[in-house]
Amino acid sequence: MKTIVLEKTNVHSGDLLLVNRQYPLMDETSELSSAWTDFPEVRLNGEAARNLRFLLDVIAAGDSIVPVSGYRSEKEQKDIYENSVKNSGEEFTRKYVALPGCSEHQTGLAIDLALNKADIDFICPDFPDEGICSRFKECAADYGFILRYAKDKEPITGISHEPWHFRYVGYPHSVIMEERGFSLEEYIDFLKNYPFDRRFTYTAELCEKVEIYYVPANDEGKTVIALPDSWVYQISGNNIDGFIVTVWKKSYDRAQAE
Ligand code: DAL
Ligand code: ZN
Repeated sequence: MKTIVLEKTNVHSGDLLLVNRQYPLMDETSELSSAWTDFPEVRLNGEAARNLRFLLDVIAAGDSIVPVSGYRSEKEQKDIYENSVKNSGEEFTRKYVALPGCSEHQTGLAIDLALNKADIDFICPDFPDEGICSRFKECAADYGFILRYAKDKEPITGISHEPWHFRYVGYPHSVIMEERGFSLEEYIDFLKNYPFDRRFTYTAELCEKVEIYYVPANDEGKTVIALPDSWVYQISGNNIDGFIVTVWKKSYDRAQAE
């Protein structure tokens, strides 16, 4: 068995960060890139941008879907919040704009999308549940994206239904969340039931076995993460108190098992 040692601050980085009113962003995002050549100013985390590009290509979106807002600095989020309060009032703003410091857009993992048409609203863009937008929604989880603010999760997320806001969490987390009907808040909570010795198992497409487990961060200092041998792994902080480890069994192991 291998081990890896992480710092407490690593809890605040990774694809599975939970960022909301209760858990503000603690770390600056890194490595941003653009998913659209026509909209270079809309930037995303590099891996999220690559997956978004694949997804748009697969559904042949062409220019029928356009990006409205990707990464925002805290200053941009503050300006958006204040302008929204000025233009649309406090009540509306609290429903549709996260408090500065508490927006997923600051992670570079969230993207607002719109159906391409004249007069796109910046705060509430039109992303109807039909046609190409519906197709995008159907395929989003296969590429690591979730609809982050669903109608039935409003009491949990604290944000109103936003059909236009997609969050990159990575595959297969996106698919597991969709299959089980979890919001990100619920999924992060759910994974706490699965420590290393009781790992959550998921058989991904092409029968690749994936195991997922939660490791609480050591309050006193470094956290030692155990990893099974011969597995490919990804680790993300949850932005609260620990790490989510995702391990993929390598293909040669699968062949041996067959
Ligand atoms: N519209 C989402 C909640 C944000 O401002 O981050
Ligand atoms: Zn958004």
